[in-house]
Amino acid sequence: MTDALARLRTMQAADLPVHGGRTLAYVYDSGLPDVDAIGREAVAAYAGSNGLDPTAFPSLLQMENDLVGFAADLLDAPAEAAGTVTSGGTESCLLAVQSARDGRPEVERPRMVVPSTVHAAFLKAAHYFGVEAVVVPVGPDFRADPAAMVAAIDEDRDRTVLVVVSAPSYAHGVIDPVPPVAAAARGIRCHVDACIGGWVLPYAARIGRDVAPWTFAVDGVTSISVDLHKYGYAPKGTSVLLHRSSDLRRSQYFAYADWPGYTMLNSTMQSTKSGGPLAGAWAVVESLGHAGYEKLTRDVFEATDRIVAGLDEIPALSVIVAPDSTLVAFATDGSCDAFTLCDEMASRGWHVQPQMSYDGQPPTVHLSMSAATLAHVDEFLSALEESVAAAAAVGPVTVDPEIAAFIEALDPAALTDADFDGLLLAAGLAGGDGIAVPERMAEVNAMLDLASPRMREALLVAFLDRLQRPTR
Ligand SMILES: Cc1ncc(COP(=O)(O)O)c(C=O)c1O
Repeated sequence: MTDALARLRTMQAADLPVHGGRTLAYVYDSGLPDVDAIGREAVAAYAGSNGLDPTAFPSLLQMENDLVGFAADLLDAPAEAAGTVTSGGTESCLLAVQSARDGRPEVERPRMVVPSTVHAAFLKAAHYFGVEAVVVPVGPDFRADPAAMVAAIDEDRDRTVLVVVSAPSYAHGVIDPVPPVAAAARGIRCHVDACIGGWVLPYAARIGRDVAPWTFAVDGVTSISVDLHKYGYAPKGTSVLLHRSSDLRRSQYFAYADWPGYTMLNSTMQSTKSGGPLAGAWAVVESLGHAGYEKLTRDVFEATDRIVAGLDEIPALSVIVAPDSTLVAFATDGSCDAFTLCDEMASRGWHVQPQMSYDGQPPTVHLSMSAATLAHVDEFLSALEESVAAAAAVGPVTVDPEIAAFIEALDPAALTDADFDGLLLAAGLAGGDGIAVPERMAEVNAMLDLASPRMREALLVAFLDRLQRPTR
């Protein structure tokens, strides 16, 4: 019996650390072991409870209503606001699109207008729900361009069921100009994707930082998504989707009675769902309360400010845009390759995230700060300086021009499985005995960076397909 747990721990040792403030993507670390322990105990206590039927598990309903109420206060929601706890940011974004589409059943070919920096979850929603995504280039400050958004809405107002903005965007960490876009949406739903910023920006305002308006206090905002498993510092698996009114939430529900089993009645995409994440989030939020989040927000912003100031001191690096929240994207100059820099940071125990070049912009390095990062800012900056020097010494990553031309010309739709096998091998993502994840990713990333987005998607899907094979 204990053997399985011992084996789990051994396997887990190969994963990225979720504590210690050194993993600057994927995880959010409060640095408070007692609060983490409470969250985990609550997850375990509710792992077998089923959120399928709130009348059978009333404690889950109570926790959900408590969390939605807490979020509603945070986001300046009116008394008639209504919301749902979902499994994460993507599910909240999917449901925002689905409920907007189904709130306008008369529209035959629904469309939604999004800035080019919107999270990919919305493109996934467009794909799943048959909603056309009209992607509008952002302005030079990486924020949604209100005039261009308005023009895109007005191109076909009747078919537009949703307009989306971010607070902040993931890739650059800036808040879109919500008031002019929401005002222009008039009569069309306007969703603010605050999955990553929604639990930290309200506290930033409370501690006196300048925060551009983005909550329900802005006229025309009809829904907001905010993740608890990010800056709520809760265990993975919870987000809140809040609508300005229960009328607007109505189309989110799915009910089906025309079969011989129980009447299925769902507010989320899942039906049976573990009570664990909800209980974990509830326990963390109750433990931290507003005072706890204010302190964590002070810490994470102090870490962000100090890291941005430190980046400014390193000549090879430049912050892409001054961040509005706790996410930073920076580029490297010609002396140091961004992908090599990420590898060098990893070899020093710091996990930062490479972002590919996009729309004429160079590749960047992404940092999602955690409150726990504050204790290690000096170490982070020294590791960064060392990594810049090491990356410069390694020199630029070069991709053979013939391979580069070959990759750029590839049409993913025309490739066979055997072609993908060959490409994965050439890209360094497969070795003699199958698929492999190289320790240093710079060459692979440089090659992927040359590929068109469609080609990159296809190659990585082929890679994942080969990774996800049953153990037999
Ligand atoms: C702005 C934004 N929206 C949506 C998501 C998707 O969230 P999740 O990964 O929890 O599905 C993220 C994730 O980082 C995000 O930053």
